Amino acid sequence: VNLIVNASSGRPIPETLFGIFFEEINHAGAGGIWAELVSNRGFEAGGQNTPSNIAPWSVIGDQSSLTVSTDRSSCFDRNKVALRMHVLCDSEGNNICPAGGVGIYNPGFWGMNIEQGKTYKVVIYVRSLGSINVSVSLTSSDGSQILATANIVDSDVSNWTKKEVLLEAKGTNPNSRLQLTASRKGVIWFDQVSAMPLDTYKGHGFQKELIEMLEDIKPQFIRFPGGCFVEGEWLRNAFRWKESIGPWEERPGHFGDVWMYWTDDGLGYFEFLQLSEDLGARPIWVFNNGISHRDEVDTTTVSPFVQEAIDGLEFARGASDSKWGSIRAAMGHPEPFDLKYVAVGNEDCRKKNYRGNYLEFYNAIKRAYPDIKIISNCDGSSHSLDHPADYYDFHIYTSASHLFSMTHQFDHTSRSGPKAFVSEYAVTGKDAGTGSLLAALAEAGFLIGLEKNSDIVEMASYAPLFVNANDRRWNPDAIVFNSSMHYGTPSYWVQKFFRESSGATLLDAKLQTNSSSLVASAITWTSSVDGETYLKIKIVNFGNRQVSLKVSVDGLGLNSLLSGSTKTVLTSSNLMDENSFTDPNKVAPDRSLLENADRDMNIMLSPYSLTSLDLL
Ligand code: AHR
Repeated sequence: VNLIVNASSGRPIPETLFGIFFEEINHAGAGGIWAELVSNRGFEAGGQNTPSNIAPWSVIGDQSSLTVSTDRSSCFDRNKVALRMHVLCDSEGNNICPAGGVGIYNPGFWGMNIEQGKTYKVVIYVRSLGSINVSVSLTSSDGSQILATANIVDSDVSNWTKKEVLLEAKGTNPNSRLQLTASRKGVIWFDQVSAMPLDTYKGHGFQKELIEMLEDIKPQFIRFPGGCFVEGEWLRNAFRWKESIGPWEERPGHFGDVWMYWTDDGLGYFEFLQLSEDLGARPIWVFNNGISHRDEVDTTTVSPFVQEAIDGLEFARGASDSKWGSIRAAMGHPEPFDLKYVAVGNEDCRKKNYRGNYLEFYNAIKRAYPDIKIISNCDGSSHSLDHPADYYDFHIYTSASHLFSMTHQFDHTSRSGPKAFVSEYAVTGKDAGTGSLLAALAEAGFLIGLEKNSDIVEMASYAPLFVNANDRRWNPDAIVFNSSMHYGTPSYWVQKFFRESSGATLLDAKLQTNSSSLVASAITWTSSVDGETYLKIKIVNFGNRQVSLKVSVDGLGLNSLLSGSTKTVLTSSNLMDENSFTDPNKVAPDRSLLENADRDMNIMLSPYSLTSLDLL
């Protein structure tokens, strides 16, 4: 088999081609990339009524020593529920509190990861009847091992008071909990309890290790915050950006009824914009267009939703003295965010009111912000759209063989009209399990097709990005984590092979073969680190035989550093191999020196493999 690469001519690949899609699914955000350790910090996972659902908070002590209930006495108007704790035992007399006191504890999201030497900032709002004492501690899951503790109240707190303390852990435990305990008779109210590690990604509240996994694939954009999360099963449960901004204590939180969990919405619209900026990725905001899975707003009454979107753009881009821009400024970001892309809804094209609603949004946004690029949910790859758009969404979840064959999906798509945004793609079902090599190789074949068609496909992102292993709502996902560990699935590693593609030059690369199991592409890209231009050739062998490939590169002044060229291979002994917490790198790229690097060279391609040749 021959691969002939002609480096004398090429065309630019869009700067935007490969990015990420973050959805609040699988506890990807709450209990995931957002570093808040406390789950249900305002005690209102059941909504605004009392008695409220305080889970996963639990009580320490029995009924003779305390009673715990919820009422609506909080100082926060948008989330009135507070927890009331009546301590019945005392430090003296005939009902002495047990050693360590009585109180409540929060196990976080399936255990808090507390690490020795690290500092955690705990914030609590508290009020009391009479003089009380309160200690805050980080402990093991049964409370027996104290990792850090401090007394935060020892007085009468008759008005709601914010208490803040820094706790340095003197031990490590990935399954820790936060305790609030007292050992004196009295009535205490708690609200808005937060515990965050001090050390977060760029100091902006994101879990460092998980975001570094994203940094490593150099995403050019982030589409957020969903997905179905944006739509809701019912409109009343959809993510609405205005409820997710401002001081975290005042955010009401909401129950996401598609992926079936409560979020305190500490990870809100502002934080998504901040993360995009911190990663150097373009934000792509998906907003609700008055349509959920089960109910829809009629086009004649959609204007409040349109205004909400316009206000959201002002929040992101408006002057710091504008109505919504001033809230952004107060949150610490006076400069506008670089928001240039919005998607009107998610997967709603077939809904009754989609077109009508879409046009209301389209016209209003183009009037107010002519430079904003608007993404339609209607697929324009096989026929032209009946409405104006800058991009159209294309989603595909399918079998491995089908996705691999879709390497040609956009070969015959019309080059006029809006550009394609493959905003969700993945192999799913039995070919994928919870992240197989087979799935990843099919995705690699598909991505090579997107690279080749990047004159019409301008953006692509895998979905979903993250899964907390304790809440697998959707399989597979790119990055798997629990409180203390994480790993990339083979699909994650495939994306790393494509991180240099955005903004690179696509070369003409011709495979001479009868096999339909091979696909290849070649690019040149310039490193921002050393300013050198590299040639990268990627080949997927989707067949079960080893292939001897003769590669010829014409028209490129390969220089003397050819000796530093490398070959990186993603493969494994079994097609269904997956990574796991115990074997996180079972299927991971293996890089070695390319000894015979030259203009003409023979390369052996392993069965079922993705190979990258990186030449200088
Ligand atoms: O990626 C998971 C889900 O798949 C998304 O929420 C939705 O857009 C699609 O159906």
